[in-house]
Amino acid sequence: MIGTRFSAAAETYDRHARPQLALAQAVVAMLPELYPEQILELGAGTGLLTRLLVERFPEVPIDAVDLAEKMVSHGREKFARFAQVDWLVGDAQTFRGTDPYPLVASSAALHWVADLAATCDNIYQCLEPGGTFALGMMLEGTLKELQEIRSAVAPAKNPSSRLPSYETTTACLQSAGFRIERRAHGEERILYDDAEAFLRAIHEQGVTGGKVSSGSAPLNRAELGQLAADYQEAFATDGGVYATYETATFLLSRK
Ligand SMILES: C[S@@+](CC[C@H](N)C(=O)[O-])C[C@H]1O[C@@H](n2cnc3c(N)ncnc32)[C@H](O)[C@@H]1O
Repeated sequence: MIGTRFSAAAETYDRHARPQLALAQAVVAMLPELYPEQILELGAGTGLLTRLLVERFPEVPIDAVDLAEKMVSHGREKFARFAQVDWLVGDAQTFRGTDPYPLVASSAALHWVADLAATCDNIYQCLEPGGTFALGMMLEGTLKELQEIRSAVAPAKNPSSRLPSYETTTACLQSAGFRIERRAHGEERILYDDAEAFLRAIHEQGVTGGKVSSGSAPLNRAELGQLAADYQEAFATDGGVYATYETATFLLSRK
């Protein structure tokens, strides 16, 4: 289901992925001086973080794993000239490489997993002792304006699940055994031309229909029109409308 949604968005994702790019940049900026022999990236998508890892670690082999087959084939095509990147279909909750990795990285992906605690346990096991896990997370305050308008327009179609909170994410990482070396947490408002442009952008990121912004059933045409009009009225600001993204970065090590 998640794989299908992101497969559909593979072609258009990068055009509207400003918050995801900023998060991927923060993940790489947080890394200390490291000389890994191999890297695992989980939820690689269209390769925003992958590209930054290639720039930072030229020549180091990267296993870029994603649940969505089309994301993987899109990434394989887009990164054809980077022989160091191997694109693989896999689930971050269960994926294991042949050998443990010295560095695992993930950005804007693990909020999608059904079981974050089990995923953190699995990633801990993917790492060699002393290994590093660099994580960028989208958190529960992401698109809170949209959630508010959506539940007013269609209260019976409220989302059945939410993105993880900062506290839940921290607890999952700590109970998996990770030592937290560094972390940062904050919110950012992104501006869009208008409500329609905003709704189109998040649709093209593959996030509508997901737990970020959608509910238990899709909105009908009248509800969508109402949503756009109400959003425009409530969240207009100089030069457009705004949407909040709550994110965190964690630099972690396996003890
Ligand atoms: C918002 S995209 C982010 C991709 C990229 N890391 C970036 O920074 O732009 C999230 C990606 O996570 C993938 N994903 C979702 N659940 C996953 C899982 N359980 N295992 C692996 N990938 C998953 C989706 O298919 C999608 O490509």
